[in-house]
Amino acid sequence: MTTIDEGIGSARSSGPSVQDLLAADTRRVPESLKDHSYVPQGSADIPKVRYTSNDFAALENEYLWTRTWQMACTVDELIQPGDHVVYDVADQSVLVTRTKDGSIRAYHNSCLHRGTKLRTESGRVASFRCPFHGWRWDLDGQLTELPAEWDFPQVWNQPESCLPQAQVAEWAGFVFVNLDPDAPSFETVAAKLIEHFGRDFQMEKRYKAFHAVKEVPANWKVCMEAFAEGYHVIATHPQILEFAGDANSEYSIWEDSPYVTRFVNGFGVKSPHLGPLSEQQIADAYLQFSARAIRGSVEVPDGRTAREVVAELFRTMMGQSLAVNLSEVSDSEILDAHLYHLFPAFAPWAGVGQSLTYRWRPGPTADTCYMDVLRMLPVPDGQERPEPAPMQVLRLEQSWREAQGMGGLADVFEQDMENLPKVQLGLKMTAKRAKKGVSMGLYQEARMRLIHRHIDRFIREGLVADGRDVSELEPFLVPEG
Ligand code: FES
Ligand SMILES: [Fe+2]
Repeated sequence: MTTIDEGIGSARSSGPSVQDLLAADTRRVPESLKDHSYVPQGSADIPKVRYTSNDFAALENEYLWTRTWQMACTVDELIQPGDHVVYDVADQSVLVTRTKDGSIRAYHNSCLHRGTKLRTESGRVASFRCPFHGWRWDLDGQLTELPAEWDFPQVWNQPESCLPQAQVAEWAGFVFVNLDPDAPSFETVAAKLIEHFGRDFQMEKRYKAFHAVKEVPANWKVCMEAFAEGYHVIATHPQILEFAGDANSEYSIWEDSPYVTRFVNGFGVKSPHLGPLSEQQIADAYLQFSARAIRGSVEVPDGRTAREVVAELFRTMMGQSLAVNLSEVSDSEILDAHLYHLFPAFAPWAGVGQSLTYRWRPGPTADTCYMDVLRMLPVPDGQERPEPAPMQVLRLEQSWREAQGMGGLADVFEQDMENLPKVQLGLKMTAKRAKKGVSMGLYQEARMRLIHRHIDRFIREGLVADGRDVSELEPFLVPEG
């Protein structure tokens, strides 16, 4: 049964809301999880060509990826001076490094002689030397060596010979970069993320225990959107319906921090798509699915819920395996998926149950992208921070199952991955009688609508600033309303 009332996106599924689950939690629930909000994003179809056109991808490459805050690496990867990470996105490459005075800087990764990419791989160096003719910059970005400098008086010892810098921000153990020197600060753009994680989620006390990146045969927005809602669970992951409140997921958009959104899917409750199940049946199904369960069953006593019993079991097991004290951590943080999103393409989970973080970047054409999956685990109590896990690279034809340490999550990811090339192919059908747009849910998919509108705004502003014709954007624009 669905309740319908006036107002775009105000209808909700039957069954307990995420806020109902929080109200029944056996522990104190973080204030941040109670902070939820929805802002209607209209009902217009989103043009399919936004996902398939190389012209639109070129506009995104020029005006989105060069002007937004993106997660380049973790602070742990830049411990010693000269440690550096190469962050490639669209046509851009940024060299993020630790300098001798301990600060982090991000340089344009392109030689000031004839443009050669200075570093193609991350690592540790004493200076950045171009492989082509040997121009050399120190870690502070000063040009310190130029073979046959007598032939380059216009460069040697000139102020413009420093490597150009990108903006850098450190947040919660991550390093973010922005190639636009005039972009608003990270603190402005990520306000809600900073507020919530700063108060409740302690991301800085976690370390990167797993990292894999895979090339995916779909547009970056197709891939990102596949991880942005619980709506696909009924068809794509039916094996979890008995213990996932998929259609009762909560989607937040905050008026005062429009670049941060959140999706929360409650677990340990049955899907509203299913008929009645006992609390015992829900708990049994959950444990059967979960790799965490050593024994196959747990008893749900009368008057208690599957959610609280399974949370208690996971709290104990996870606390032992992670070597951290979780005794006061809420059921929600143990069980649920709380996926935050910072525009354009960074998505950290709060909570300790999964501890994932995602990142998306465009591929060489509109039809491919790269998705990074990180697992950010709590540093074990009383121990040194473990070393960050190295990045595993999976090619287009490889499976997430080939990533070492991904565990049972890889199977769920592969279910998601199976859809993506089909989506990309179907989106290309724009012949005369084909539907020209995609019709998103007014509530469950509202965050995607918002993201599309942000993209349009970045491109339009970029075109205007460059004196270009904004009608270039016209065929792709998300209509008003
Ligand atoms: S292109 Fe870098 S030194 Fe010549
Ligand atoms: Fe999925």
